[in-house]
Amino acid sequence: MRVLNGQSEVDRGGPDPNGLGACYGCAFVPTMGALHDGHMALVRRARELSSDGTPVVVSIFVNPTQFGPREDFSRYPRTLEADLERCRSAGVDVVFAPPAEVVYPSDITVMAPPLPLVATEPGLEDRIRPGHFAGVCQVVSRLFDLLRPRWAVFGEKDYQQLRVIEAMTGNGAWGVRIAPVATVREPDGLAMSSRNRYLDTARRTRATALFAALARANEHDRPDAAEEVMRRTLAEWGLAVEYAVVRDAETLMPLTSEGVPSRRARSLLAARLGEIRLIDNAPWVGSRTPAGLD
Ligand code: PAF
Repeated sequence: MRVLNGQSEVDRGGPDPNGLGACYGCAFVPTMGALHDGHMALVRRARELSSDGTPVVVSIFVNPTQFGPREDFSRYPRTLEADLERCRSAGVDVVFAPPAEVVYPSDITVMAPPLPLVATEPGLEDRIRPGHFAGVCQVVSRLFDLLRPRWAVFGEKDYQQLRVIEAMTGNGAWGVRIAPVATVREPDGLAMSSRNRYLDTARRTRATALFAALARANEHDRPDAAEEVMRRTLAEWGLAVEYAVVRDAETLMPLTSEGVPSRRARSLLAARLGEIRLIDNAPWVGSRTPAGLD
């Protein structure tokens, strides 16, 4: 496994200015490190996609531009040695672990691409974390420029992010295809996340309320009833709800009575346990026969 940082000394102005030619055409897994089994599922998917011999590349970069001023950028877990070991055992070909000056060089303005509607309209992460998707799109488009992947693998855990990246690349820009991967869960249903390590034992137990809420939403065939039961479940476990909604799985906009009933729907949650913020989502199968929507 090679570990590259993009600081090539050779041929700065040439066709491979960052010495990353070994990555071109790869199956790419962008991460911020602190790798867990959820990331390893992304790597496995990348390996399937690279069965024709294209390299599997994992990037590790904690991107400052996607964190708000009161968010956890400085204390975000950084575990590079353990991450490299996990990548090595998982058969990753290249880890790209650049310093900030490679991603954001002082002599280039790294533009954030225009944001798709799914990054600005739904009123979910876009409302709670203003500027977040501009930062995500900026870094992901820069990584695509540097690594020129054929495939990029994203988890459904950050569902709005997945939809934003799918929309950002939908016009064929970068020539990359997006491969989504289902959320990996702990045995009690908690979605795996690098931020789970912030949870102490008591909060770790209460965090299972998110999975319980998503499961209960599927016991209701009206979106408003599903939303109500999700809010109630989170509140019962002492979580402060930021949003608990059932949305069109593609646009993430509210389902309407004029909506096409056969469209897929998704329940999405964000809640706080003290200063710790948790998000989760799942298909909302109640929408198969949504009362009042057909
Ligand atoms: O999902 C993440 O870990 C990050 O948002 C990403 C896609 C690596 C961009 O920094």
